Amino acid sequence: MCRIITVANQKGGVTKTTVCQHLSYILAEEGRRVLCVDFDPQTNLSATLLPDGQAPALNISGIMARLLEDQDLPTPSSYIQRCGNVDLIPGSKALAKLETNLLTEMGTERFLQEILSPLRPHYDYIIIDTNRAASPLMTNALTAADSVLIPICPEFYSTEGLTDLIASVLKNRRRLNPGIEFEGIVFSRCNLRTNLYRTTRANVENAFCDEIRVFKTAIPETVKVGDAISRGLTVMEYAPESKASIAYRAFAKELISYAEQSAPAQRSALHVLPGGGDRRVG
Ligand SMILES: Nc1ncnc2c1ncn2[C@@H]1O[C@H](COP(=O)(O)OP(=O)(O)OP(=O)(O)O)[C@@H](O)[C@H]1O
Ligand SMILES: [Mg+2]
Repeated sequence: MCRIITVANQKGGVTKTTVCQHLSYILAEEGRRVLCVDFDPQTNLSATLLPDGQAPALNISGIMARLLEDQDLPTPSSYIQRCGNVDLIPGSKALAKLETNLLTEMGTERFLQEILSPLRPHYDYIIIDTNRAASPLMTNALTAADSVLIPICPEFYSTEGLTDLIASVLKNRRRLNPGIEFEGIVFSRCNLRTNLYRTTRANVENAFCDEIRVFKTAIPETVKVGDAISRGLTVMEYAPESKASIAYRAFAKELISYAEQSAPAQRSALHVLPGGGDRRVG
C-alpha cells in the first residue's frame, strides 16, 4: 500500500529537502518503489536529483496549471523522471506565481491529491518536499498526504514554527483530509553532545510525545552532508561510514518499522492543540 509523506516545517533551513533526498534514497535501496515530488518553488530537490540537462516535458507547476484550466491530467511519462533509484516529479519556480491563482480560484486545495492519487498503485512511498510557508501550496501538500514528517534542528527558536505547523495539520484534518496522521518529528543537523540539543529534545518530547512520535534517531551535523549534496549525492554514497550516513539508515529503518506495521498508532487523539499550543514548547 502506498504511503504519501509530506515533509514539512514552516521554518526554513531545517533540512526538509535533505531529509526527502536521503530518506527516499534509503527507502529505494530497501526495495521500496519511491516517487519524490518537489513541491517547493525553490526547486532544491530537483536541482539535487535531476541529472544535468535531463528534465521531463512537464513539471509540477505545468500539471497544476492544466488543472486550473480544467484540462485532463497528462500521462505520467510526461512529468516523471527517473533519478538514480527514485522517480521525481520536478519542481518549478513558476509554482510561486501559480500560487496566486490557487488563492483566487475555487476548489484548488485538492489539486496535488488529484495528481498523486492515480499514481498510488505504482509506488510504496511518495515523498513530498514543501516550502517553508503556510500557504495554498502547503494546504495542497497536507491534503494529498497520509502523514506529515517534521524535521527540526535544535536551535533556540526551533520549536517556534512547530506549534503553528501542528495546528495547520489539525485544521487540515478537520476540514479537508480526515485521514492525515503525524509520521513523527525527526531531529536533524544536531550536535548531539550539546545542551541545546538535549534541552530542545526534552522540550519537544515533553510537549508532544504522547501524541506525536519523536524519532529516536537524530541526524548529526556534519560537513559531509553538504559536500555530498553539492556533488548530487547522498551522504550514504559519498561517505558511507560517516555518522550521518549511519544515522540516516537507522532513521529510515525506524520510519519503515512504524509506517509498515500499523499506521493507526499515530492516529492520535490530538484534534486541537491542548493548552493553547504555543505554551507547550520553548
Ligand atoms: N546533517 C547535516 N549536517 C550539516 N548540514 C546539513 C545537514 N543536513 C542538511 N544540511 C545543510 O543544511 C542546509 C539546509 O538544508 P535544506 O536545504 O535541506 O533545508 P530546508 O529545510 O529544505 O530549507 P528551505 O526551508 O530553504 O527549503 C543545507 O545547506 C544542507 O546542506
Ligand atoms: Mg528545502
